[in-house]
Amino acid sequence: MSDHELPKTRTGEARAFFGRRSGKKLHGGQQAIVENLLPQVEIKLEGALDPKSLFPDAARIVIEIGYGGGEHLARKAAEAPDTGFIGCEVFTGGIGKMVQAMHAANLTNVRLFTDDALKLLVSLPDAAIDEVYLLYPDPWPKTRHHKRRFVSPTTLAELARVIRPGGFFHFASDIDDYADWTLAHILRTTEFSFAPGAPGSWHEPYPGWKPTRYEQKARREGRMKSFYFSFPRA
Ligand SMILES: C[S@@+](CC[C@H](N)C(=O)[O-])C[C@H]1O[C@@H](n2cnc3c(N)ncnc32)[C@H](O)[C@@H]1O
Repeated sequence: MSDHELPKTRTGEARAFFGRRSGKKLHGGQQAIVENLLPQVEIKLEGALDPKSLFPDAARIVIEIGYGGGEHLARKAAEAPDTGFIGCEVFTGGIGKMVQAMHAANLTNVRLFTDDALKLLVSLPDAAIDEVYLLYPDPWPKTRHHKRRFVSPTTLAELARVIRPGGFFHFASDIDDYADWTLAHILRTTEFSFAPGAPGSWHEPYPGWKPTRYEQKARREGRMKSFYFSFPRA
């Protein structure tokens, strides 16, 4: 499928992917690692995908959407070898970094999807996933671009379908308007709830959190506060 074709969602709605796909050229050794390892760990969709076929022995399955340089995904995967992780990223520079991190740490519990994460979500069975992370999605600040944001009624419907009851959708952002946007959409769903322990507790990072590359950039640029939401799936 070309970048300009719209993936059809389960609801029949079409959605385009917007963003940057290519990055800096990798040097010889890095390129060789990516060329050897990526084909072994890349998910190629051919219709429906049973994630248990990727991780037959995994106790849990977790997805990270838009993992960027893969700092969070690689750390989580190293911390939980009994969990299967599916990372979704379209930026080739980020995919290359993640593959190298997997090689360096010998991570065998990660599979990578290199296209629009929504295409992966629509291919999954109901209640197949324990947790989904969406950390610092592209903010698309201009009002006329808000429809490009990853969080939408369409994507939330798919997340609600694939996350099992009792599971979680985690969303982090440094952008007030995107946090408001996400809360407004979440509160319109019947499957996800927003029940913070205390007012303002959403500014406390997740347990064991280490800043991602994008969060570090936000802090350097003076955006000193983030929202770390965890929405339970009823
Ligand atoms: C602002 S960056 C944040 C990266 C990383 N999570 C971090 O915190 O450093 C957002 C990332 O999401 C990726 N992305 C955007 N839309 C996507 C989609 N539909 N499917 C998969 N990845 C996507 C982009 O390529 C980009 O790398």
